[in-house]
Amino acid sequence: MEHNHLDITKAPIGVFDSGLGGISVLRALVREMPNENYLYFGDSANAPYGTKTLEEVRKLTVSNVEYLLQKGSKAVVVACNTATSAAVRYLREKYPQEIIIGIEPAIKPATTVCEQPTIIAMATPMTLKEQKFQALVSRYKDIANIIPLPCPGLVEFVEDGKVGTEEFLQFMTKLFAPFQNQRIDAVVLGCTHYPFSVGEIKKVLGDHVKLFDGAWGTARETKRRIAAAGLLNDSEEQGIINYENSAMSDARLAICKMLYELPIDEEEQ
Ligand code: DGL
Repeated sequence: MEHNHLDITKAPIGVFDSGLGGISVLRALVREMPNENYLYFGDSANAPYGTKTLEEVRKLTVSNVEYLLQKGSKAVVVACNTATSAAVRYLREKYPQEIIIGIEPAIKPATTVCEQPTIIAMATPMTLKEQKFQALVSRYKDIANIIPLPCPGLVEFVEDGKVGTEEFLQFMTKLFAPFQNQRIDAVVLGCTHYPFSVGEIKKVLGDHVKLFDGAWGTARETKRRIAAAGLLNDSEEQGIINYENSAMSDARLAICKMLYELPIDEEEQ
């Protein structure tokens, strides 16, 4: 028994987001590595991050990732595009011996859906402003028409657990109204809160639209990194998930579990 406590392969994978959006990444991680244990930390007290300054987001991200490391996480997944663009490079330099994985908008796979696709890249205002995203867009600008779309207000629907409501569908209809008469080939879900709106996106833009969620690539990369370090949990039992939050309440915990249980659009994988 004592040995088990010291066995680092049994330590949790820490998963961090500004709030509850990272649960879309947690789902992908569990699909990829069901036997791992997870510690999910959402900073809902400070969400949304996407409208804060780079310095504010970096400071919050660093202190929350440090918390997950202190709790004994064997790896940390920054399950937030905004926090990744603000702080992941800095964190890797500060903790070169730790496994720290980030997420970024899945622009590259979206550019291959058809010849010269028109792609809507949904992300927070901060992600869209960052140099990392600008560089991604300019790399593919000759083979695709990429339209950046900031979505202020969307994060709050997810945080409040109001996905799947009529009010949410109305919000999404308004968001995509400017594209009503345009064929959209693909949508990049460049914020981890947005995969919870895939049903609404398809209703509004049409079933032909292909959706791209970076969670799946991030989950595969996390598995590769943990395996390379010899830290995969070889237990044959399903792992456990613990939720922590900077503004935890019974209601919030219930929303975490509800989001986790929502059906996954298989096509996004
Ligand atoms: N979930 C975060 C992301 O992936 C952003 C949400 C927020 O603005 O806090 O970008």
